[in-house]
Amino acid sequence: MASKKILVIHGPNLNMLGKREPEIYGTTSLDDINKRLTELGKKIGIIVDAFQSNHEGAIVDKIQEASQKHEGLIINPGAFSHTSIAIRDALLILKVPVIEIHLSNIYKRESFRHKSMIADIATATLCGFGHSGYYMALEAISRMLK
Ligand code: DQA
Repeated sequence: MASKKILVIHGPNLNMLGKREPEIYGTTSLDDINKRLTELGKKIGIIVDAFQSNHEGAIVDKIQEASQKHEGLIINPGAFSHTSIAIRDALLILKVPVIEIHLSNIYKRESFRHKSMIADIATATLCGFGHSGYYMALEAISRMLK
């Protein structure tokens, strides 16, 4: 089975997972999530590239690169989900499935988190499943690519 390449982008403050508001985001670190994604990817024939940045422009650059290199994208834009037209515009360039993911259920939280700038252009959205959502998203994207 030929492996497909997927990019997972983690936005600002997600490098602090495990230490950051664990009652909301859980105690699993970003490293652990990325390792589990890589292992799951091996089982289902997906090569997982992971990228984290606290900088909006760096995320835009990475999305633009993905249009050349990857067959799908899983993105948790963190707080940029609620503000970034630049990330939305970059995603609109992609012709591959894009899954938006949030660890927390953004609709159960403050009203400023209820609006996602990318929800209406994402192929699918997952939120509120904690880190398990990432593995669900990877399995879902793998099915979409079959
Ligand atoms: C988040 C939700 C956002 O509102 C927040 O700013 C984050 C994380 C989540 O994964 O639940 O940084 O995207």
